[in-house]
Amino acid sequence: MELTAAEQRMLDGEEGEGVRKAIELVVALGKIYGAEGLVPIRSAHISGVSYKTIGDGGISYLEHVSEESKVRVPSTLNPSGMDSQRWREMGISEDFARKQLHIIELYERMGVDTTCSCTPYLGGNLPRLGEHVAWAESSALSMVNSMVGARTNREGGPGALAAAIAGRTADYGLHREENRAPTVIIEAETDGSLFQHSLLGQAVGSAIGNGIPYFRGIRPRWEEAKIMAAAMAASGAVAMFHVEGVTPEAADHDLSGLETVHMSEGELLQAQERLTTTEDADLIAFGCPHLSEREIKEMAAFLEGKEKRSDVTVWFCTSRQVRESMPREVEVLERFGPVLADTCMVVTPVEGLFANSASDSAKACNYLPTLCSQKVRCDSFERLMEVVL
Ligand code: F3S
Repeated sequence: MELTAAEQRMLDGEEGEGVRKAIELVVALGKIYGAEGLVPIRSAHISGVSYKTIGDGGISYLEHVSEESKVRVPSTLNPSGMDSQRWREMGISEDFARKQLHIIELYERMGVDTTCSCTPYLGGNLPRLGEHVAWAESSALSMVNSMVGARTNREGGPGALAAAIAGRTADYGLHREENRAPTVIIEAETDGSLFQHSLLGQAVGSAIGNGIPYFRGIRPRWEEAKIMAAAMAASGAVAMFHVEGVTPEAADHDLSGLETVHMSEGELLQAQERLTTTEDADLIAFGCPHLSEREIKEMAAFLEGKEKRSDVTVWFCTSRQVRESMPREVEVLERFGPVLADTCMVVTPVEGLFANSASDSAKACNYLPTLCSQKVRCDSFERLMEVVL
């Protein structure tokens, strides 16, 4: 691999031990994937925040890294295991909370913006077309690759952190123009709803694995795109998609010779049936990925003037920034359940609190059984809210 003189100095330890270890990891990953060099990055988004997922081993690792390193590009953080302010209300133990707050403080020490959201692109971390970034969080990186035309691979938590410290990542995969072409055309038929985009993502991810789909027949806004991206990354390993007439690089590629797959409502229904293992729900959770302002506005408009008539728990998950920006709508939602920030239904320890969970997000419905021991109901916001109205 060819390194610049500055990169070689970093690798030789001239900028300190923390930088040396970070660039060593970036170079090692690059060698595995056949990269010829590194590319400077403009931002990073780092996962591996919840105490539930990283445990005490993760804390020791972060304590060690934070002693000798700081990030050198703007870096944001994925959701943690609890709402940093309302964790008691969520049923989180004192011990978990203490460790979780320590993890966030370690990231803060390294200069990471501790936003704790999986939609950093709706806040202050929105890359531009053609910019190289190093993002973890499969839904977010797919969104910036696809809707923005920024360039990132599917980074893991430690890889994204190392790239943030080194200010560089290895130049392979989706950083290179030749790897961003569609691999399959998807002719989609949906009713245009958010929920059907979630199911479409589920069906496409299962069908194509880690390919790059080129969609026809849909016109997703950011909200539909993010729930679809999340589902494709969970049921498959899709890190980028194109949508005809919507995404910035869709027109750049020759589609001749590509296979076309039809996805109609029948396939979407099958995807819903495969995800659903119960009709019961102790917890109904929305906001995977975190709810946008527009989603909260639409939910509040739907719930305005209605009353909650059941004791089933409802959670609305969003970023702190969005929660603080719309107090009136948040107040409407709070009559049905807490609007939680910093966390989500998957990375918080729901397994100690509930047995049956429901969500409109296919991504959440993939992970709630495997990471949270839940039986799951996957359904639309309107149909799930019928349970409590
Ligand atoms: Fe975000 Fe949690 Fe879903 S991190 S994409 S809300 S699983």
